[in-house]
Amino acid sequence: MAFKHKHLLGIQTLTSSEIMTVLDTAESFFEISTRAVKKVPTLRGKTIINLFFEPSTRTRSSFELAAKRLSADIVNFNQQTSSTVKGETFKDTILNLDAMNPDAIIIRHSCSGVPQFATTFCQTHIINAGDGAHEHPTQALLDAFTIRQEKKNFKDLKVLIVGDILHSRVARSNIFLLQKLEVRIVLVGPPSLLPLEFKKFGVDLDFNLDRAIEGADVVMMLRIQLERQERNYFPSIREYRNLYSLTEKRFRRAKKNAIIMHPGPINRGVEISADMADSAKSVILKQVENGIAVRMAVLYLLLGGKEREAID
Ligand code: CP
Repeated sequence: MAFKHKHLLGIQTLTSSEIMTVLDTAESFFEISTRAVKKVPTLRGKTIINLFFEPSTRTRSSFELAAKRLSADIVNFNQQTSSTVKGETFKDTILNLDAMNPDAIIIRHSCSGVPQFATTFCQTHIINAGDGAHEHPTQALLDAFTIRQEKKNFKDLKVLIVGDILHSRVARSNIFLLQKLEVRIVLVGPPSLLPLEFKKFGVDLDFNLDRAIEGADVVMMLRIQLERQERNYFPSIREYRNLYSLTEKRFRRAKKNAIIMHPGPINRGVEISADMADSAKSVILKQVENGIAVRMAVLYLLLGGKEREAID
């Protein structure tokens, strides 16, 4: 099996061949969610903990459904009703959960590097469900799965990633992944949210969406992450919308068969008009649907193999 990791902490450490293994495995799991009985015994007897220190609609429920469809048992940790409110540290919380011998802990945290930190003292598999502005590997994998589903392959594609690049773990994971697949990436946003240092990733930068969107195959819009912004990065939402919102008029400049993506949650009327979010060109809900198959694949590849030799 071409996937020998103990943990999934990010895309940066995966090879293009491992990425394709996840996508191909997800392909084989996709059909299970369309059955009347959406369950296979693949991970029967395994126990998984969903440990989210940040809000989530898609990722948490998607991991839960993925685990359940593979017959694993999953426990959802609720921070508000946990002993963290009595002052228990993050490390003690994880040490105690790890002592219960789960087969995997899925972690989302507002601080970059927390899942990596957990691997230094946990016995179990750790999966990063989004850490600060660092990485969100399963989002990038489900995005790649959706792009391949729509475009058949990654050859000669021009992918735009638009918006709050600075604070976006989704952008970083997508940059790492699409680069490994040799896709042309153009990052677009206001200079305050698109630092020139992103050039080091070998991508194109453009501050003008009307120009950059010409000939795009995929337009991936990002949410303005006001909760991570400690100062004003643009004068007003109105100005941001005028320059960077995806409207029907703007989208006409992209290729005729271009698709619209967004990891969610959407700010309708800010980074994307409601019409565009709901249009036939939008694959936003397909991304959500595909997320389950991709997360089933990740759980299977990390927990399912009997005689795997882990390299990290
Ligand atoms: N895309 C994403 O991570 O959504 P949630 O925050 O709802 O999990």
